[in-house]
Amino acid sequence: MAWTDPEAPFNELPNLPPATQVETTAVLKKSITANKYLAELKGSCLRLPDPGLLLNTVILQESKDSSAIENIVTTQDALYQAILDPSDGVPSEVKEVLRYREAMYAGIDEMNRTGLIRSGLAINIMCKLRGINNQGFRTLPGTKLSNPQSQRTIYTPPDPQFVSGKMTEWEKFVNENEDFDPLVKMALMHYQLEAIHPFSDGNGRTGRILNVLYLMQQNLLTQPVLYHSSYIIQHKADYYRCLREVTEKDAWEAWILFMLDAVIETSQKTLTFIDKTLSLKEETLAILKTLSQKMPAYELNEILYSLPYLKIKTLIDKNMGTRPTVTGYLDALAEKGLLITRKVGREKYYINHRLMALLTGPVE
Ligand SMILES: Nc1ncnc2c1ncn2[C@@H]1O[C@H](COP(=O)(O)OP(=O)(O)OP(=O)(O)O)[C@@H](O)[C@H]1O
Ligand SMILES: [Mg+2]
Repeated sequence: MAWTDPEAPFNELPNLPPATQVETTAVLKKSITANKYLAELKGSCLRLPDPGLLLNTVILQESKDSSAIENIVTTQDALYQAILDPSDGVPSEVKEVLRYREAMYAGIDEMNRTGLIRSGLAINIMCKLRGINNQGFRTLPGTKLSNPQSQRTIYTPPDPQFVSGKMTEWEKFVNENEDFDPLVKMALMHYQLEAIHPFSDGNGRTGRILNVLYLMQQNLLTQPVLYHSSYIIQHKADYYRCLREVTEKDAWEAWILFMLDAVIETSQKTLTFIDKTLSLKEETLAILKTLSQKMPAYELNEILYSLPYLKIKTLIDKNMGTRPTVTGYLDALAEKGLLITRKVGREKYYINHRLMALLTGPVE
């Protein structure tokens, strides 16, 4: 197969598996390393009080590219405020982040219910991401991928009448074929979904969420903590080149190695983040224990490391005590420098600024 004209719809896109042997020595070698780090990550994330914390940062990274997020730190602040006060005028980029979280969690629920990765699941994720209802596969001709700078077409997916059939085959491969190492299979299914390009928009983000769901389905992760999106976005030129070269010259090996590198680097970075967070958490607990006999140090610390932004009401809602009691706790923590306070309108927030620094760190 050689499909070198980016302007011509790729109607001949073959179904998976590829006709050539893709599990080369280099691929197998790297997949062993990637599986090792992923297993370590799976174990380590059980120690985090709320693995969802990580999701927020990565989603911000995703949104930074696709919408106009100027300042990731400010947006992160706005996001945590929105989580505490969802009804107060939430900025649009934060709404986008909240939609992404919702798409990820709804996707996990649906996948757990059916045990399968279906094309309907892909559709539901895409709709949630884009905040739309009742859209399915693209039906209109003319979907093309172009380079935003030069406006040149870089890829034209199959015409709309081929989408549904190719997605049925994709779904069969994903759920039935067990001949490949799961990480290799993830790379294959990701290329295929992107090449089919079943939607008019949101194909990249939907595909990246599906990769994480697939790893969960394979029990390689118990939480959605492998955010290879950051890696992909940071290596976008290579990512696009590798996808293109599978289409043009069956260059599967380079593509699979790229995806395995994404898994390796992301797992390593996430492991470092988890280690740093947990040692900070332990350090904070030790200080909390010296403060007052009456303070429920352990419970408070768990809350501090699952929600970097707190209000007095958050602690009351979590049954940590009456208003005067919990205000006393928070003020004591602020006095020790463990929290900083910020007034926004009539609300007073207590911020675990050291955790925020770790969370905003990996995005840059
Ligand atoms: N040559 C190619 N062949 C197949 N798919 C490609 C190719 N180049 C890029 N893609 C895929 O197309 C995606 C972009 O499509 P689309 O705009 O529908 O997705 P998105 O989620 O809105 O965007 P993004 O991925 O940039 O956030 C890329 O993320 C990539 O996965
Ligand atoms: Mg797009």
